[in-house]
Amino acid sequence: MAKASSSSSTSSSKQISVGLVGLGFGSEFIPIYQKHPHAKVGGICQRDPKVLKLCGDRFGIPEKMRFTSYEDMLKKADIDAVHINTPIPLHAEQSIQALEAGKHVACTVPMATSIEGCKAIVHAARKAKKRYMMMETTYYTREFFYVKELLDSGKLGRIQFLRAAHQQEMAGWPGYWEGLPPMHYATHCVGPMLGLAGKLAKRVQCIGSGRIADKLALKYGSPFAVESAHIQLADSDIGCEMTRSLFETARQYVESFDVYGSTRSFEWAQLEHSTKPVLFTGESPEHVEIPDFAHLLPKSIREFTGKSVYDGPESHLSFKQGSGHGGSHPHLTHEFVMALIEKRDPGIDEVMSANWTATGILAHESAMRGGEWIDLPDFAAI
Ligand SMILES: NC(=O)c1ccc[n+]([C@@H]2O[C@H](COP(=O)([O-])OP(=O)(O)OC[C@H]3O[C@@H](n4cnc5c(N)ncnc54)[C@H](O)[C@@H]3O)[C@@H](O)[C@H]2O)c1
Repeated sequence: MAKASSSSSTSSSKQISVGLVGLGFGSEFIPIYQKHPHAKVGGICQRDPKVLKLCGDRFGIPEKMRFTSYEDMLKKADIDAVHINTPIPLHAEQSIQALEAGKHVACTVPMATSIEGCKAIVHAARKAKKRYMMMETTYYTREFFYVKELLDSGKLGRIQFLRAAHQQEMAGWPGYWEGLPPMHYATHCVGPMLGLAGKLAKRVQCIGSGRIADKLALKYGSPFAVESAHIQLADSDIGCEMTRSLFETARQYVESFDVYGSTRSFEWAQLEHSTKPVLFTGESPEHVEIPDFAHLLPKSIREFTGKSVYDGPESHLSFKQGSGHGGSHPHLTHEFVMALIEKRDPGIDEVMSANWTATGILAHESAMRGGEWIDLPDFAAI
């Protein structure tokens, strides 16, 4: 299993040329690549020429590097890698297209919407001998780095149990979100739990609970308001539990993980901005201030752990609701770029990406089958 943290520097002067497709959330990453010592922006792509112009002008991208056609951007020989931030149903197809065009791929979550899609990407990456990284934000948050340090230093003791929740009201988001099975977007829960355990998921079991409006449920044939799953890990006695809701469930936005250790436990803050996480040590719990981990990054991109590229009212809704994704964007960018520079697997490689994504897909399938345990495929064997 690959590691979360990347090396902070190298003496190489090589720069990875990255083409970005999908410029809503995707725009967040443009200035990070522009300022990274080993990266540059080789192209930007999105379908609407007006929005493309606005984005290109804003970040000073030359006209010849702006594309309304993804296929045209992939034909550009000097682009080494693409970073995909398009709507969920396009992730698998566009990842495979890029790998087949000889590009490395970073793709926002989830990797795909089907087990076949996950398998096809792993196969395409292996065949093309190119790297694939799913850009899971929760695996590079300051909270994850903080707890990982506690774990690695022995302060948590042995992990006894992991829990995660991602609850968000998606009314008003683009149409492909309406009625999405909650567990089809579960990587923000799966990632930090499996990442801390350092294991892959082996089996999953889930129950669906409550009901969403018929007009939403009809879209994907998924009726549940909440899905709640248990995960059994490969080669481990640690159990994991996760909860997801997307519509018609009253809860402030939360994207959390809790870790119960034999000597210390960490519980996420109950309220997003007004409470702090708790560290339990025997009978003396304490609220903790989570430090920033920008020092792990090259100086030129450290500022991006604390600010969105769209400051002010234009700020991307996911950034506002998700507290800036825990400062993860520059860490993700840095890890992807450095993996390519150092010719090694990225922190979330294609097998981890497939396993994390498939855990959610099969959890939903389990809920639809009344809570049956379902085994995950062995993506490493592809
Ligand atoms: N924390 C996170 O990891 C996080 C947060 C927010 C969004 N996301 C992911 O980012 C993705 C995009 O989210 P968003 O809110 O920006 O979505 P959006 O629908 O607002 O924007 C999608 C972008 O993709 C472009 N696009 C669509 N089809 C295209 C095509 N065929 N060719 C080229 N460009 C195309 C659109 O023009 C637009 O720029 C989603 O898949 C979402 O899951 C992840």
